[in-house]
Amino acid sequence: ADLGALNSLALPARAALFACLDSIDDIAEVGAYARRTACRRFVLGGGSNVVLDDAFDGLVLHMALRGRALIGEDGEAVYVRASGGEPWPEFVEWTLAQGWGGLENLTAIPGSVGAAPIQNIGAYGREVGELIASVEYVDLAEGTSHVVSRDDCQFAYRDSVFKQRGWHRDGRVLVTAVVFRLPKRWQAQLGYAGIADTLAEHGVASLATADARQIAKAVAALRQRKLPDPARLPNAGSFFHNPIVEAGHAARLAAEFPAMPQHRQGDGRVKLAAGWLIEQTGWKGRTLGPVGMYAGQALVLVNHGGARSADVRALASAVAHDVRERFSVELHVEPITP
Ligand code: EPU
Repeated sequence: ADLGALNSLALPARAALFACLDSIDDIAEVGAYARRTACRRFVLGGGSNVVLDDAFDGLVLHMALRGRALIGEDGEAVYVRASGGEPWPEFVEWTLAQGWGGLENLTAIPGSVGAAPIQNIGAYGREVGELIASVEYVDLAEGTSHVVSRDDCQFAYRDSVFKQRGWHRDGRVLVTAVVFRLPKRWQAQLGYAGIADTLAEHGVASLATADARQIAKAVAALRQRKLPDPARLPNAGSFFHNPIVEAGHAARLAAEFPAMPQHRQGDGRVKLAAGWLIEQTGWKGRTLGPVGMYAGQALVLVNHGGARSADVRALASAVAHDVRERFSVELHVEPITP
């Protein structure tokens, strides 16, 4: 199977075996096949956060199970369940159209519902883990179904129990559904600098009255301004994590580079802006072969046409090398590499 159209970096990629899963029966059958043959597996959701190799000598499972519904409510929240193959942006739009706030800051992120908890997607001051009640998955190695509560998901910045166990890489876990807990006493999250300005540009007079749909519109406008549309310029969003360093290291960097953005974390460590570090090394808008770091946001690696995974790896290591030399900071690739 050709996966070129199923990854937002538009890398040419072939899989020996491919299965599109759109029913629970499919999942059971394909899971049994994978166990019987002990083939390599890789789970592909929306394909918006992966770097695929030219060839994958195994079985690629494309999660396409659809469905979303209100499954309960109590005095404090509504509970909404969405299948793993629901496209994330459509799901968020739907919750907002029902009048349930909570996911508005996470609007317009490409990808699928099932992938969202794996790396705890986050943007504009929100992380999805804050609004998740539980995650349902099938363990393809054991053929068993599981439900993990939010606490047991161990959500952290771009991290979860699924990633910690390496399950995103070895195709062991297929997230079949996610249950969201959307609080009835909704509170706007306007901490991210650009949101207030964009609301004002959109004619929202007072921040105190901004509703969830207005915030979603502002966030979508911000994203459009900064992030390239994968349909026009293939990319996988941020290519590196924002690195988190020890307080002492951050203090030395601040002394040497007073303009460096730094964000203190709850545990005393400090998060740095990878985009800023990359821009300082001169990579913003620069290319290496068919790939480059986007001129509008240095953290986004873009495919100008005809790139293969080796080109992506070459640029990623050149950028990480220059950041290491200049700042003694290690960058880690964000998209998943099977
Ligand atoms: N910056 C630069 N030069 C650049 C890019 C950024 O100096 O070329 C500076 C900015 O001025 C700012 C700081 O870096 O001070 C942070 O930049 P920005 O607000 O654009 O966000 P980011 O840290 O680059 C993160 C997420 C994004 C998310 C935005 C908004 C990560 C790895 N990325 O990017 O998530 O949309 O914040 O919340 O945490 C993604 O994961 O794919 C993604 C797009």
